[in-house]
Amino acid sequence: MLILYQLHNVKHHEVFLTVLFDIQISDNWPGYSLDLFTYPQHYYGDLEYVLIPHGIIVDRTERLAKDIVQDIGDNDIVVLCVLKGGYKFCADLVEHIKNLSRNSERFISMKVDFVRLKSYHNVLIVEDIVGTGRTMKVLLNNIEKYKPKMIKVASLLVKRTSRPDGYRPDYYGFEIPDLFVVGYALDYNEHFRDLNHICVINDHGKTKYRV
Ligand code: HPA
Ligand code: MG
Repeated sequence: MLILYQLHNVKHHEVFLTVLFDIQISDNWPGYSLDLFTYPQHYYGDLEYVLIPHGIIVDRTERLAKDIVQDIGDNDIVVLCVLKGGYKFCADLVEHIKNLSRNSERFISMKVDFVRLKSYHNVLIVEDIVGTGRTMKVLLNNIEKYKPKMIKVASLLVKRTSRPDGYRPDYYGFEIPDLFVVGYALDYNEHFRDLNHICVINDHGKTKYRV
C-alpha cells in the first residue's frame, strides 16, 4: 500500500498531514467535500463526502481498458456484466476497449452477452465491487462449467475486509476502506444509482432510504 505523507513544518509543533489520493484508498483518506462538485438535488443532506469523483473513475477505467486490451491480444472476448451495480462501469469499460481497438491495427471483436456462453469464448466478467469474494467464487464456478478458453475478472472496486484470504480480481480500479459506498450504479436499496460520483452515505441517507 502506497500512502504519501507531505509534511509542512509551519510552526514549532504544528504539523499538517496531507494524505494523497492513490488507487489504494487509505482508511484515513478524508475524501472530497460535496461542495466541490455537482450532484442530484434529491440527495442533498444524504451523503457524507465524495470518495471518488466521476472524472477519476472514468480516467482509471480508460487505463484498465488499455491493460485488458494488451493482455487479451488478438482474442475475441465475451463481456459478462454482473447487473445491476456493474452496468455503468461495464458500459464505460466496453466503450474504452472499443475505442482502443478501433484506433489500433488489430480489431478486437466484442460481444456483450448474458447467457449464450460457448466453450471457445474468452470471458471478461465485469463487476462493480468485490468484498469477501464469495459471490465471485460462485459465479466463477458456474462459468467454468462452460470451459471457456480464458476467464478474467474486472471489478471497479475491491473492498478491504477483515478477511486476508479475500479474492483478488485480475483487474480493479480502486481498493477502498470497509465503507458502504453509493453512486456510479452502486445502490443503497435501489437508490443512488443516478449519482455520478462514488460517495459515502450518511446516517440521514441511511434512515431515509431504509426499507
Ligand atoms: N455499496 C453498494 N453495494 C455493495 C457494497 C457497497 O459498499 N458492498 C457490496 N455491495
Ligand atoms: Mg454487484
